[in-house]
Amino acid sequence: MATESSTAPVPVHIAAICGSMRGEKSYTRLALELALTSAANTGATVDLIDLSTFHLPLCSGPDDTDDNPQIQALKARVSAAQGILLGSPEYHNSFSGVLKNALDLMGGDEFRGKVFGLLGVAGGSAGAVNTLGHLRVVVRGVGGWSLPVQISIPNVRSAFANGKLVDKGLEERVRFLGRELVRFTRLHSMVPELEHRLVEIIDEDV
Ligand SMILES: Cc1cc2nc3c(=O)[nH]c(=O)nc-3n(C[C@H](O)[C@H](O)[C@H](O)COP(=O)(O)O)c2cc1C
Repeated sequence: MATESSTAPVPVHIAAICGSMRGEKSYTRLALELALTSAANTGATVDLIDLSTFHLPLCSGPDDTDDNPQIQALKARVSAAQGILLGSPEYHNSFSGVLKNALDLMGGDEFRGKVFGLLGVAGGSAGAVNTLGHLRVVVRGVGGWSLPVQISIPNVRSAFANGKLVDKGLEERVRFLGRELVRFTRLHSMVPELEHRLVEIIDEDV
């Protein structure tokens, strides 16, 4: 049976969640913006979710907080995305409590089966390796798939000049993270379509 083929890219929407409360002064946010710009250049739609613009309660359990309009707004924006970029400053060898609280206020409904990119910034020379490792475990906890590629920006106070990364190699790796997230999110989004088509083919053969 003839099938219609299309070269149009699979549409994907990418949301980046910024775990810094420093708003436009945040290096995490700057790095996420760079990755999102790269994602947008490959045809994805993008959304930067800056947690400093929300007034989220501390998580105590879904029964207590689910009707909170701020949580509902956050959930709606995350639910709209098929690919999620998590960005955090390194705080005391882990990711920020603000990001953990936001992730705790959500769960499998928003995250299960989605593709995740991870990015961390750190004041020190050791970088954000612990942030990235801890986020990877949490992504597993919410049923997501973390990309192997990840970004750690060490010595972050001197890593940026005039809002741009000084190290052009690092800048390209941040852009690559954005492109890879779109690429794998597209591939992942096609799986249900392929499963559906396979079932159709099997049915045709009967
Ligand atoms: C509470 C706190 C803890 C921090 N702990 C670490 C740390 O363990 N390692 C490190 O390299 N930097 C640490 N830093 C520095 C931050 O990673 C750095 O200031 C970063 O730029 C903040 O990210 P932002 O600009 O996106 O807010 C810490 C900063 C704060 C406020």
